[in-house]
Amino acid sequence: MVTDSVASNGTTRRGLLSWILMGVGLIAGYGAGAFHFFQYLVPLRRQGRRREMFIGTLDDLPLGTTRTVRDSRGQEIIVARIAENPDDPVKDFRALSTKCPHLGCKVHWEAGADRFRCPCHEGIFDKNGVAVSGPPAQEKKNLIEYDVRVDARTRWVFVMVAEDSPYGA
Ligand code: FES
Repeated sequence: MVTDSVASNGTTRRGLLSWILMGVGLIAGYGAGAFHFFQYLVPLRRQGRRREMFIGTLDDLPLGTTRTVRDSRGQEIIVARIAENPDDPVKDFRALSTKCPHLGCKVHWEAGADRFRCPCHEGIFDKNGVAVSGPPAQEKKNLIEYDVRVDARTRWVFVMVAEDSPYGA
């Protein structure tokens, strides 16, 4: 009788232990999957974090002026004042990467023609960075645009760059 009881308890304990180990295994397996999934998501969110890079004041940047700055990755950004909207000055500016989206050559601003031109394969972009002819237009690839912020109180102008930029405010 005593032996049967021990055997029965032993079987029950073994069964329970098996269930617990299986449960722990499942939780660990799904947990690892979830961890890797969040690791995949979190870097994307970090890449999206930006900081402000001071460009100048509204008074320093009259209509038609451009400023070229560089983010921490060495990417050149050209900031151009293309309009004068006293009520909403942020609309006055375009901040565009100077890297051609075709094969990466440096594009140049042609003030007289109000456009950007890539000398490598004659890629042409309008003042908003939209590809209008050449290989970038065929591939429907525009210049990368950065957001601009104008502080209403100080009238300072900022371009928004990746957070790790040492030049950011
Ligand atoms: S690299 Fe600019 S058009 Fe080809």
